[in-house]
Amino acid sequence: MNNIDSIRISILSRIKPHDPEKQKLSALAESLIRRINAIGRDMGLDIKAILVGSSARRTWLSGEHDLDIFIIFPPEASREYLEKNGLSVARKIAEEAQRSEERYAEHPYINAVFDGFEVDLVPAFGVASAAEIKSAVDRTPFHNEYVLSRIKGLEDDVLLLKQFLKGCGVYGSDLKTQGFSGYLVELLVINYGSFVHVLEASREWRPGMKIDIEKHATEVHNDPLVVVDPTDPARNVSAALSIDNLCIFMDKAREFLNAPDASYFSVRAVVPLEDSDFKNIMEARGTSLIAIEFTAPDVVEDVLFPQLHKMEDSVGEMLERYDFRVYNSGVWAEKKAILVYELESAALPALKKHAGPQVWMEEHAAAFKSRYSGSNAFSSVYIRNGKYMVEIPRKYATAKKLLEIELPKCGLGKHVALCIKKEYHVLENEQILEIREKKFREFLRKFFTK
Ligand code: CTP
Ligand code: MG
Repeated sequence: MNNIDSIRISILSRIKPHDPEKQKLSALAESLIRRINAIGRDMGLDIKAILVGSSARRTWLSGEHDLDIFIIFPPEASREYLEKNGLSVARKIAEEAQRSEERYAEHPYINAVFDGFEVDLVPAFGVASAAEIKSAVDRTPFHNEYVLSRIKGLEDDVLLLKQFLKGCGVYGSDLKTQGFSGYLVELLVINYGSFVHVLEASREWRPGMKIDIEKHATEVHNDPLVVVDPTDPARNVSAALSIDNLCIFMDKAREFLNAPDASYFSVRAVVPLEDSDFKNIMEARGTSLIAIEFTAPDVVEDVLFPQLHKMEDSVGEMLERYDFRVYNSGVWAEKKAILVYELESAALPALKKHAGPQVWMEEHAAAFKSRYSGSNAFSSVYIRNGKYMVEIPRKYATAKKLLEIELPKCGLGKHVALCIKKEYHVLENEQILEIREKKFREFLRKFFTK
């Protein structure tokens, strides 16, 4: 038995659900489905509940305890009808849950906890094919069918790849993680035939790599990895995957194949950064840290995070435009949203060198000289390398001042812009330690250790 085979066995013994867990899960799913169908009959609705997602495909990781139950409405139902009745059925079921809450994706659904299992109760349209979907979730039953017809015998490989991706920190296709979805993992394993074959194949991947199992693509996608949905020729299953997360996987896959080790399947515990650690790190690095803190808009993460990343980019560009060199940046959000920038320096000289026209461009020369011969310049106009130069006061000598004044002018998403308009704070270096949330301190630890 080679090293990978023995690692495989030991990891699977930890992540593969055992019989009691499987039985508990199917019993719960069956009883919920029965009750939903009964409520539908009582309400005179033409609905049918089905179990989808990894729990229906035997590709869930032990302990994940997450059930996706869809309440399927006839395709001709209107969106309002589906939302209203779907929610009222889901709410009735959720009355028996330990806790439940309404959540929003493309339309509202209920997330409830029964018996320690997280259950998503999602209304969807029972369309005839994935090409005719009325709402994004309508594809899921087709995914289920497709995967179930091809996954037999490969379930363990799916579990191993999911756990490997978790170890890399790139599992999850939500827009906060921007990683690999469960369905993407299943398709990769179906396409390449095993966990190890996916890893080996990734050695040859290049950005823009395309996998089209059914050879039926109808669109060109400009994404780092393109995996055409076997049930919908127009969709890239891997659309949420960022180039960096793709590359993190490729890098770790190569490392693992070169020197297989069980540690690749473990999720690293992150220790929150203490005040003293922060001070030592900042002292050693000699850089400056700036944080922008504001109340996060009350929208779902899939709406919030793209706006935060957009803000991260546009604020980063503004800092650079004003000569503050950005070494690293990151976003964090719970109730508060916080953007962090590590700068070469958060303070610049009071003066700035400003170049003018070449001396022989007479007309421009005159304009430049008359503009800068004034009293508030640090120097008079002088000549270097054939050009006029002048030293003028810098508009913002500190990043803090720049952000306090110019931040609202950056390109911001709709919800974030409204929150920024109300209030935000710019914190510098040790002031950032006023933010004491444990999760934020974990984020800071990862920010520095990468
Ligand atoms: N789905 C999708 N695209 C996404 C997220 C979900 O198509 N970005 C569909 C897939 O068909 C998926 C189902 O919704 O199987 C349920 O989603 P989720 O619970 O996120 O994934 P699972 O496949 O169940 O994987 P996990 O083991 O992580 O729960
Ligand atoms: Mg799931």
